[in-house]
Amino acid sequence: MTSILLTDITKIFESSSRNSDSVTAVDNFSLEISDGELLVLLGPSGCGKTTVLRMVAGLEVPTSGEIIIGDQIVTDLHAKERGVAMVFQDYALYPHMTVRQNMSFGLENLKFDKTEIQERVNQTSKLLDLESLLDRRPKELSGGQRQRVALGRAIVRKPEVYLFDEPLSNLDAKLRSKMRVELGRLQKDLGVTSMYVTHDQVEAMTLGKRIVIMNEGVLQQVGTPKEIYNQPVNLFVAGFIGSPPMNFLEGRIIKEVSEYFIDLNGTNFPVGKNERLANYENRTITIGVRPNHLSIRKNDNDDESPPFVCGKVSVVEYLGDSNLVYIETESSLLCLEQDSDIPLNNNEIVTLYASPRDIHLFESSGEGRSILTN
Ligand SMILES: Nc1ncnc2c1ncn2[C@@H]1O[C@H](COP(=O)(O)OP(=O)(O)OP(=O)(O)O)[C@@H](O)[C@H]1O
Ligand SMILES: [Mg+2]
Repeated sequence: MTSILLTDITKIFESSSRNSDSVTAVDNFSLEISDGELLVLLGPSGCGKTTVLRMVAGLEVPTSGEIIIGDQIVTDLHAKERGVAMVFQDYALYPHMTVRQNMSFGLENLKFDKTEIQERVNQTSKLLDLESLLDRRPKELSGGQRQRVALGRAIVRKPEVYLFDEPLSNLDAKLRSKMRVELGRLQKDLGVTSMYVTHDQVEAMTLGKRIVIMNEGVLQQVGTPKEIYNQPVNLFVAGFIGSPPMNFLEGRIIKEVSEYFIDLNGTNFPVGKNERLANYENRTITIGVRPNHLSIRKNDNDDESPPFVCGKVSVVEYLGDSNLVYIETESSLLCLEQDSDIPLNNNEIVTLYASPRDIHLFESSGEGRSILTN
Protein backbone atom coordinates (compact mmCIF):
# COMPACT_ATOMS: atom_id res chain seq x y z
CA MET A 1 0.00 0.00 0.00
CA THR A 2 1.61 3.26 -1.06
CA SER A 3 -0.78 6.09 -0.52
CA ILE A 4 0.51 9.64 -0.12
CA LEU A 5 -0.87 11.98 2.49
CA LEU A 6 -0.02 15.68 2.55
CA THR A 7 -1.30 17.57 5.57
CA ASP A 8 -1.26 21.38 5.82
CA ILE A 9 1.89 21.74 3.76
CA THR A 10 3.28 25.25 3.47
CA LYS A 11 6.50 26.24 1.73
CA ILE A 12 7.90 29.72 2.13
CA PHE A 13 11.05 30.61 0.22
CA GLU A 14 12.89 33.24 2.22
CA SER A 15 14.32 35.99 0.05
CA SER A 16 18.03 35.88 -0.59
CA SER A 17 18.38 39.66 -0.89
CA ARG A 18 17.11 42.59 1.11
CA ASN A 19 15.26 43.95 -1.93
CA SER A 20 12.86 41.07 -2.45
CA ASP A 21 10.07 39.59 -0.34
CA SER A 22 9.76 35.99 0.72
CA VAL A 23 7.52 33.85 -1.50
CA THR A 24 4.77 31.57 -0.20
CA ALA A 25 4.99 28.98 -2.97
CA VAL A 26 2.59 26.49 -1.36
CA ASP A 27 -0.03 27.55 1.16
CA ASN A 28 -1.66 25.12 3.61
CA PHE A 29 -1.99 22.34 1.08
CA SER A 30 -3.69 19.07 2.08
CA LEU A 31 -4.29 16.10 -0.19
CA GLU A 32 -4.57 12.31 -0.15
CA ILE A 33 -3.52 10.18 -3.10
CA SER A 34 -4.59 6.56 -2.94
CA ASP A 35 -2.56 3.47 -3.71
CA GLY A 36 -2.04 3.03 -7.46
CA GLU A 37 -3.76 6.31 -8.35
CA LEU A 38 -2.49 8.75 -11.00
CA LEU A 39 -3.31 12.19 -9.67
CA VAL A 40 -2.78 15.27 -11.83
CA LEU A 41 -1.76 18.67 -10.45
CA LEU A 42 -2.85 21.45 -12.78
CA GLY A 43 -2.43 25.21 -12.55
CA PRO A 44 -0.87 28.24 -14.19
CA SER A 45 2.86 28.92 -14.23
CA GLY A 46 4.25 29.75 -10.81
CA CYS A 47 1.29 28.35 -8.82
CA GLY A 48 3.49 25.94 -6.85
CA LYS A 49 3.10 22.61 -8.69
CA THR A 50 6.81 21.79 -8.93
CA THR A 51 7.32 22.84 -5.32
CA VAL A 52 4.65 20.35 -4.16
CA LEU A 53 6.32 17.59 -6.17
CA ARG A 54 9.80 18.46 -4.93
CA MET A 55 8.59 18.30 -1.33
CA VAL A 56 7.12 14.83 -1.92
CA ALA A 57 10.40 13.81 -3.57
CA GLY A 58 12.46 15.10 -0.65
CA LEU A 59 14.27 17.75 -2.70
CA GLU A 60 12.66 20.55 -0.71
CA VAL A 61 11.73 20.65 2.98
CA PRO A 62 8.28 22.06 3.84
CA THR A 63 8.23 25.11 6.10
CA SER A 64 5.39 23.42 7.97
CA GLY A 65 3.11 20.43 7.56
CA GLU A 66 3.55 16.69 7.25
CA ILE A 67 4.10 14.24 4.39
CA ILE A 68 3.33 10.53 4.75
CA ILE A 69 4.20 7.95 2.09
CA GLY A 70 2.75 4.51 2.78
CA ASP A 71 2.79 4.28 6.55
CA GLN A 72 5.94 6.31 7.06
CA ILE A 73 6.26 9.99 7.95
CA VAL A 74 8.84 11.17 5.41
CA THR A 75 8.74 14.94 5.96
CA ASP A 76 12.36 15.08 7.06
CA LEU A 77 13.68 11.99 5.28
CA HIS A 78 16.34 12.30 2.60
CA ALA A 79 15.17 11.86 -1.01
CA LYS A 80 17.07 8.56 -1.29
CA GLU A 81 15.14 7.04 1.59
CA ARG A 82 11.68 7.69 0.16
CA GLY A 83 11.33 5.11 -2.65
CA VAL A 84 10.31 7.88 -5.00
CA ALA A 85 11.41 8.46 -8.62
CA MET A 86 10.96 11.82 -10.29
CA VAL A 87 10.86 12.51 -14.03
CA PHE A 88 11.86 16.09 -14.76
CA GLN A 89 10.61 18.46 -17.40
CA ASP A 90 14.03 18.73 -19.06
CA TYR A 91 14.75 14.95 -18.80
CA ALA A 92 18.11 15.65 -17.09
CA LEU A 93 19.84 12.80 -18.94
CA TYR A 94 23.63 12.50 -18.64
CA PRO A 95 24.91 13.56 -22.07
CA HIS A 96 28.15 11.59 -21.95
CA MET A 97 26.43 8.32 -21.02
CA THR A 98 24.67 5.88 -23.34
CA VAL A 99 20.99 5.06 -22.92
CA ARG A 100 21.96 1.86 -21.08
CA GLN A 101 24.31 3.76 -18.74
CA ASN A 102 21.71 6.44 -18.12
CA MET A 103 19.26 3.78 -17.08
CA SER A 104 21.63 1.71 -14.93
CA PHE A 105 23.46 4.57 -13.22
CA GLY A 106 20.93 5.02 -10.40
CA LEU A 107 20.87 1.30 -9.63
CA GLU A 108 24.68 1.13 -9.58
CA ASN A 109 24.69 3.94 -7.05
CA LEU A 110 22.29 1.96 -4.93
CA LYS A 111 24.79 -0.96 -5.15
CA PHE A 112 22.49 -3.32 -7.02
CA ASP A 113 23.90 -6.58 -8.30
CA LYS A 114 25.15 -6.42 -11.96
CA THR A 115 22.86 -9.18 -13.23
CA GLU A 116 19.85 -7.58 -11.55
CA ILE A 117 20.69 -4.23 -13.19
CA GLN A 118 21.06 -5.85 -16.59
CA GLU A 119 17.78 -7.67 -16.20
CA ARG A 120 15.88 -4.56 -15.16
CA VAL A 121 17.35 -2.43 -17.95
CA ASN A 122 16.52 -5.10 -20.53
CA GLN A 123 12.99 -5.51 -19.21
CA THR A 124 12.36 -1.76 -19.14
CA SER A 125 13.85 -1.05 -22.54
CA LYS A 126 11.58 -3.73 -23.97
CA LEU A 127 8.58 -2.11 -22.30
CA LEU A 128 9.51 1.31 -23.71
CA ASP A 129 10.71 0.10 -27.09
CA LEU A 130 14.26 1.29 -26.46
CA GLU A 131 16.09 -1.98 -27.14
CA SER A 132 17.70 -0.84 -30.38
CA LEU A 133 18.85 2.44 -28.85
CA LEU A 134 20.69 1.21 -25.77
CA ASP A 135 24.16 2.12 -27.05
CA ARG A 136 23.31 5.62 -28.25
CA ARG A 137 23.93 8.84 -26.39
CA PRO A 138 21.12 11.35 -25.69
CA LYS A 139 22.20 13.72 -28.48
CA GLU A 140 21.68 10.89 -30.98
CA LEU A 141 18.04 10.51 -29.95
CA SER A 142 14.82 12.30 -30.89
CA GLY A 143 12.85 14.22 -28.24
CA GLY A 144 10.35 11.39 -27.84
CA GLN A 145 13.12 8.81 -27.47
CA ARG A 146 14.89 10.93 -24.85
CA GLN A 147 11.60 11.20 -23.05
CA ARG A 148 11.28 7.44 -22.98
CA VAL A 149 14.81 7.09 -21.61
CA ALA A 150 13.93 9.52 -18.82
CA LEU A 151 10.87 7.41 -18.04
CA GLY A 152 12.96 4.24 -18.26
CA ARG A 153 15.41 5.61 -15.75
CA ALA A 154 12.54 6.08 -13.30
CA ILE A 155 10.96 2.70 -14.04
CA VAL A 156 14.12 0.57 -13.58
CA ARG A 157 14.25 1.69 -9.97
CA LYS A 158 10.85 0.05 -9.30
CA PRO A 159 9.90 2.91 -7.00
CA GLU A 160 6.83 3.03 -4.82
CA VAL A 161 5.89 6.45 -6.18
CA TYR A 162 6.41 8.22 -9.52
CA LEU A 163 6.53 11.99 -9.70
CA PHE A 164 6.22 13.47 -13.16
CA ASP A 165 6.97 17.17 -13.63
CA GLU A 166 5.61 18.20 -17.04
CA PRO A 167 7.43 15.28 -18.65
CA LEU A 168 5.94 15.86 -22.11
CA SER A 169 6.23 19.60 -22.43
CA ASN A 170 9.30 19.51 -24.67
CA LEU A 171 7.60 17.41 -27.32
CA ASP A 172 5.63 18.57 -30.34
CA ALA A 173 1.83 18.32 -30.18
CA LYS A 174 1.53 15.03 -32.08
CA LEU A 175 4.21 13.22 -30.14
CA ARG A 176 2.87 14.63 -26.92
CA SER A 177 -0.57 13.13 -27.44
CA LYS A 178 0.98 9.78 -28.41
CA MET A 179 3.25 9.74 -25.35
CA ARG A 180 0.34 10.82 -23.17
CA VAL A 181 -1.63 7.72 -24.13
CA GLU A 182 1.43 5.50 -23.65
CA LEU A 183 2.22 7.02 -20.30
CA GLY A 184 -1.33 6.58 -19.07
CA ARG A 185 -1.32 2.95 -20.12
CA LEU A 186 2.11 2.33 -18.59
CA GLN A 187 1.10 3.80 -15.25
CA LYS A 188 -2.01 1.65 -15.19
CA ASP A 189 -0.06 -1.51 -16.05
CA LEU A 190 2.60 -0.82 -13.43
CA GLY A 191 -0.01 0.29 -10.87
CA VAL A 192 2.44 2.63 -9.15
CA THR A 193 1.03 5.59 -7.20
CA SER A 194 1.84 8.69 -9.26
CA MET A 195 1.62 12.46 -9.20
CA TYR A 196 1.69 14.22 -12.54
CA VAL A 197 2.22 17.95 -12.91
CA THR A 198 1.13 19.86 -15.97
CA HIS A 199 -0.22 23.23 -17.04
CA ASP A 200 -1.83 21.64 -20.10
CA GLN A 201 -5.49 21.09 -19.34
CA VAL A 202 -6.03 18.57 -22.13
CA GLU A 203 -3.25 16.44 -20.67
CA ALA A 204 -4.81 16.77 -17.22
CA MET A 205 -8.34 15.97 -18.35
CA THR A 206 -7.29 12.89 -20.32
CA LEU A 207 -4.72 11.43 -17.92
CA GLY A 208 -6.12 12.01 -14.47
CA LYS A 209 -8.95 10.16 -12.82
CA ARG A 210 -8.73 13.04 -10.34
CA ILE A 211 -7.33 16.49 -10.93
CA VAL A 212 -6.15 19.06 -8.40
CA ILE A 213 -6.38 22.67 -9.49
CA MET A 214 -3.94 25.08 -7.84
CA ASN A 215 -3.60 28.84 -7.97
CA GLU A 216 -1.04 31.00 -6.16
CA GLY A 217 0.01 28.13 -3.90
CA VAL A 218 -3.55 27.36 -2.82
CA LEU A 219 -5.53 24.25 -3.67
CA GLN A 220 -8.71 25.37 -5.40
CA GLN A 221 -10.55 22.14 -6.20
CA VAL A 222 -10.01 18.39 -6.30
CA GLY A 223 -12.29 16.31 -8.47
CA THR A 224 -12.80 14.13 -11.51
CA PRO A 225 -12.37 15.89 -14.86
CA LYS A 226 -16.18 15.95 -15.17
CA GLU A 227 -16.68 17.53 -11.75
CA ILE A 228 -14.05 20.17 -12.42
CA TYR A 229 -15.57 21.02 -15.79
CA ASN A 230 -19.24 20.89 -14.81
CA GLN A 231 -19.09 22.06 -11.21
CA PRO A 232 -16.22 24.50 -10.80
CA VAL A 233 -16.14 25.75 -7.21
CA ASN A 234 -15.07 29.29 -8.04
CA LEU A 235 -14.41 31.79 -10.82
CA PHE A 236 -10.76 30.80 -11.07
CA VAL A 237 -11.46 27.12 -11.80
CA ALA A 238 -14.36 28.01 -14.09
CA GLY A 239 -12.18 30.34 -16.16
CA PHE A 240 -9.12 28.09 -16.15
CA ILE A 241 -10.77 24.87 -17.39
CA GLY A 242 -12.25 24.84 -20.87
CA SER A 243 -11.07 26.22 -24.17
CA PRO A 244 -12.11 28.74 -25.31
CA PRO A 245 -12.72 29.82 -21.72
CA MET A 246 -16.09 30.31 -20.05
CA ASN A 247 -17.73 33.69 -20.65
CA PHE A 248 -18.44 35.83 -17.61
CA LEU A 249 -20.85 38.74 -17.29
CA GLU A 250 -22.52 40.50 -14.43
CA GLY A 251 -26.21 40.64 -13.65
CA ARG A 252 -28.60 41.17 -10.79
CA ILE A 253 -30.71 38.46 -9.15
CA ILE A 254 -34.38 39.41 -8.92
CA LYS A 255 -37.43 37.50 -7.76
CA GLU A 256 -40.78 37.52 -9.51
CA VAL A 257 -43.58 35.59 -7.87
CA SER A 258 -41.70 32.50 -6.65
CA GLU A 259 -39.04 32.34 -9.37
CA TYR A 260 -35.62 33.88 -9.66
CA PHE A 261 -34.33 35.70 -12.74
CA ILE A 262 -31.13 37.44 -13.68
CA ASP A 263 -31.57 40.96 -14.89
CA LEU A 264 -29.09 41.28 -17.76
CA ASN A 265 -29.45 44.80 -19.06
CA GLY A 266 -33.08 44.36 -19.87
CA THR A 267 -33.51 40.64 -20.50
CA ASN A 268 -34.74 38.66 -17.55
CA PHE A 269 -33.16 35.24 -17.75
CA PRO A 270 -34.90 32.54 -15.66
CA VAL A 271 -32.76 30.58 -13.19
CA GLY A 272 -35.44 28.63 -11.33
CA LYS A 273 -36.70 28.41 -7.80
CA ASN A 274 -33.54 27.40 -5.97
CA GLU A 275 -33.81 28.87 -2.47
CA ARG A 276 -30.05 29.26 -2.31
CA LEU A 277 -30.58 32.34 -4.47
CA ALA A 278 -32.63 34.05 -1.74
CA ASN A 279 -29.40 35.32 -0.13
CA TYR A 280 -28.46 37.04 -3.36
CA GLU A 281 -31.73 38.76 -4.18
CA ASN A 282 -31.12 42.23 -5.63
CA ARG A 283 -27.37 41.65 -5.52
CA THR A 284 -24.96 41.68 -8.45
CA ILE A 285 -23.52 38.27 -9.24
CA THR A 286 -21.34 36.85 -12.03
CA ILE A 287 -22.89 34.57 -14.61
CA GLY A 288 -20.69 32.04 -16.36
CA VAL A 289 -21.59 30.28 -19.59
CA ARG A 290 -19.34 28.21 -21.86
CA PRO A 291 -19.01 29.14 -25.57
CA ASN A 292 -20.53 25.81 -26.66
CA HIS A 293 -23.59 26.45 -24.49
CA LEU A 294 -24.58 29.66 -26.26
CA SER A 295 -26.48 29.59 -29.52
CA ILE A 296 -27.77 31.98 -32.14
CA ARG A 297 -31.12 30.75 -33.34
CA LYS A 298 -31.50 31.57 -37.03
CA ASN A 299 -34.46 29.32 -37.66
CA ASP A 300 -37.02 28.44 -35.09
CA ASN A 301 -35.90 24.93 -34.24
CA ASP A 302 -37.09 22.86 -31.34
CA ASP A 303 -34.59 24.33 -28.89
CA GLU A 304 -36.54 25.63 -25.92
CA SER A 305 -33.73 27.81 -24.55
CA PRO A 306 -34.85 31.29 -23.49
CA PRO A 307 -33.10 34.40 -24.82
CA PHE A 308 -29.98 35.32 -22.86
CA VAL A 309 -28.52 38.56 -24.26
CA CYS A 310 -28.46 40.57 -27.48
CA GLY A 311 -25.33 41.77 -29.18
CA LYS A 312 -23.49 42.58 -32.37
CA VAL A 313 -21.35 40.07 -34.29
CA SER A 314 -17.81 41.38 -33.97
CA VAL A 315 -15.46 38.67 -35.26
CA VAL A 316 -16.05 35.21 -36.75
CA GLU A 317 -13.16 32.74 -36.59
CA TYR A 318 -13.39 29.72 -38.87
CA LEU A 319 -12.07 26.49 -37.29
CA GLY A 320 -13.17 23.93 -39.87
CA ASP A 321 -16.20 22.17 -38.51
CA SER A 322 -17.09 24.99 -36.15
CA ASN A 323 -16.85 28.76 -35.86
CA LEU A 324 -15.89 30.88 -32.89
CA VAL A 325 -18.13 33.91 -32.95
CA TYR A 326 -17.38 36.96 -30.81
CA ILE A 327 -20.40 39.02 -29.85
CA GLU A 328 -20.20 42.51 -28.45
CA THR A 329 -22.90 43.14 -25.87
CA GLU A 330 -23.49 46.32 -23.93
CA SER A 331 -21.12 45.28 -21.17
CA SER A 332 -18.88 42.49 -22.47
CA LEU A 333 -17.44 40.52 -25.35
CA LEU A 334 -18.86 36.99 -25.44
CA CYS A 335 -17.52 34.03 -27.37
CA LEU A 336 -19.75 31.33 -28.76
CA GLU A 337 -19.00 28.18 -30.68
CA GLN A 338 -21.36 27.03 -33.40
CA ASP A 339 -21.59 25.02 -36.61
CA SER A 340 -19.61 26.70 -39.34
CA ASP A 341 -22.41 26.32 -41.88
CA ILE A 342 -24.63 28.93 -40.19
CA PRO A 343 -24.00 32.16 -42.14
CA LEU A 344 -23.29 35.27 -40.09
CA ASN A 345 -22.29 38.78 -41.10
CA ASN A 346 -20.09 41.19 -39.20
CA ASN A 347 -22.09 43.82 -37.31
CA GLU A 348 -25.25 41.74 -37.54
CA ILE A 349 -27.42 42.14 -34.42
CA VAL A 350 -28.26 38.76 -32.95
CA THR A 351 -29.95 37.26 -29.90
CA LEU A 352 -28.03 34.64 -27.94
CA TYR A 353 -29.90 31.80 -26.29
CA ALA A 354 -28.82 29.59 -23.42
CA SER A 355 -30.37 26.83 -21.40
CA PRO A 356 -30.78 27.63 -17.68
CA ARG A 357 -29.18 24.19 -17.09
CA ASP A 358 -25.90 25.42 -18.58
CA ILE A 359 -25.61 28.59 -16.53
CA HIS A 360 -23.17 28.91 -13.64
CA LEU A 361 -23.59 31.58 -11.00
CA PHE A 362 -20.74 32.94 -8.89
CA GLU A 363 -20.33 35.57 -6.22
CA SER A 364 -18.88 38.70 -7.81
CA SER A 365 -16.83 39.49 -4.72
CA GLY A 366 -14.02 37.72 -2.85
CA GLU A 367 -12.90 34.45 -4.42
CA GLY A 368 -15.95 34.30 -6.64
CA ARG A 369 -17.39 31.24 -4.94
CA SER A 370 -19.90 29.19 -6.88
CA ILE A 371 -23.53 29.86 -5.96
CA LEU A 372 -25.25 27.57 -8.41
CA THR A 373 -23.90 25.16 -10.96
CA ASN A 374 -25.35 22.56 -13.31
N1 LIG B 1 14.15 28.06 -4.87
C1 LIG B 1 13.28 29.05 -4.91
N2 LIG B 1 13.51 30.24 -4.31
C2 LIG B 1 12.62 31.24 -4.31
N3 LIG B 1 11.42 31.16 -4.91
C3 LIG B 1 11.10 30.01 -5.54
C4 LIG B 1 12.01 28.90 -5.58
N4 LIG B 1 11.42 27.89 -6.26
C5 LIG B 1 10.21 28.36 -6.64
N5 LIG B 1 10.02 29.63 -6.21
C6 LIG B 1 8.81 30.45 -6.40
O1 LIG B 1 7.72 29.72 -5.90
C7 LIG B 1 6.57 29.86 -6.74
C8 LIG B 1 6.11 28.49 -7.21
O2 LIG B 1 7.09 27.95 -8.07
P1 LIG B 1 6.93 26.53 -8.78
O3 LIG B 1 8.19 26.23 -9.50
O4 LIG B 1 6.47 25.53 -7.78
O5 LIG B 1 5.74 26.83 -9.81
P2 LIG B 1 5.11 25.90 -10.95
O6 LIG B 1 3.64 25.82 -10.67
O7 LIG B 1 5.84 24.62 -11.03
O8 LIG B 1 5.31 26.77 -12.26
P3 LIG B 1 5.69 26.33 -13.78
O9 LIG B 1 4.40 25.86 -14.41
O10 LIG B 1 6.16 27.61 -14.38
O11 LIG B 1 6.75 25.28 -13.74
C9 LIG B 1 6.99 30.81 -7.84
O12 LIG B 1 6.58 32.09 -7.50
C10 LIG B 1 8.50 30.71 -7.86
O13 LIG B 1 9.09 31.90 -8.31
MG1 LIG C 1 7.06 23.77 -12.55
